[in-house]
Amino acid sequence: MRPACDRIWTHARLATLRGGVVEGAIGVRDGVISYVGSAESAPDAAEVIDCGGRWITPGLIDCHSHLVHGGDRAAEFEMRLAGASYEEIARAGGGILSTMRATREASEDALVESALPRLDALIAEGVTTVEVKSGYGLDLDNEMKMLRAARRLGDERAVSVATTFLGAHALPPEFSGDADGYIDMLCAALPEIAPLADAVDGFCEGIAFSPVQIGRLFAAARRLGLPVKLHAEQLSNSRGAEMAAGHGALSADHLEHLEEAGVAAMARAGTVAVLLPGAFYFMRDTKVPPVAALRRAGVPMAIATDCNPGTAPLTSLLLAMNMGATLFGLTVEECLAGVTREAARALGMLDRVGTLEVGKWCDLAIWDIERPAELVYRMGFNPLHARVWRGI
Ligand code: NIG
Ligand code: FE
Repeated sequence: MRPACDRIWTHARLATLRGGVVEGAIGVRDGVISYVGSAESAPDAAEVIDCGGRWITPGLIDCHSHLVHGGDRAAEFEMRLAGASYEEIARAGGGILSTMRATREASEDALVESALPRLDALIAEGVTTVEVKSGYGLDLDNEMKMLRAARRLGDERAVSVATTFLGAHALPPEFSGDADGYIDMLCAALPEIAPLADAVDGFCEGIAFSPVQIGRLFAAARRLGLPVKLHAEQLSNSRGAEMAAGHGALSADHLEHLEEAGVAAMARAGTVAVLLPGAFYFMRDTKVPPVAALRRAGVPMAIATDCNPGTAPLTSLLLAMNMGATLFGLTVEECLAGVTREAARALGMLDRVGTLEVGKWCDLAIWDIERPAELVYRMGFNPLHARVWRGI
């Protein structure tokens, strides 16, 4: 007879992210967690793996990335080192638009090829789910090319990919002076894009789009049943988070300039605050997101890399956790939950990933550590012992 479990990991300390730490075993059947509990009552298994007392967490989840893009912005980095600001570079046609040009020139194959090393860096640290945004094509064909490339990453590697349509990232030159016309075009294109996208995102900012413009796109997305999320309050308070929460957004991301009304709106809507300390660090920002207010209001907080060529060329979720603690004052527990349970919530995937619970996909990170604080404490050190995606 077939054993109850295909595989079981024993002698482990399980940070379940749901009901505390379990010292014991975790088992999988058909890619799904089928047992979490003591070693003594564990069912029989075809394969038994002794973890030697190691810690097991849910596989890590990077819930905000721009992993797929053409080119890089190292030259702009040098300009910023010499004193130019991000906004100056953007207004002079650099910034997002320089990556747009490189992305339009790249073939779909080239986008996949160039994203794989970045994805591999995340995977090497135990990432089992990654969100990938479009937003550097800025026309229908190139946005769809990016989304197809993002989906293909999930065929190339053992990782779950959630795709997000970020057409409203910047105004492309074809629509110069006509942001409303560009938003109209995006709304009209949404039915064609919908099969490639798991969610719709926008950049709400003085140098990008207003809450009213993004609100029109979100209304169109919601009519198609697509969840929404927003780059909000990164450089100024445009009250984007309030607008997004009004559309039941999964998350509002960045949030350095978020104020009390935005916090309250997010709390009411259950919108996750996705904190991106890598962008804060790389942009040498000084205004930190209102973590204490978010905590007080019970807004769930996630942490992500924001991996992108302009503001966060970061491919380490462990380093993002360290920055979340050192720069934003998050606790170890908040950092770990921020890259597992709350990141899953931010993707609308909490029913499938993010905690160690029977019935969820068996995505695990097995660590050579004595206590979870070590995942947050070190910088540039990778204590991953093994990684499991859907039971393998
Ligand atoms: O998440 N804020 C807007 N979008 C990206 C940066 C894009 C870029 O500069 O290429 C971000 O920080
Ligand atoms: Fe981003």
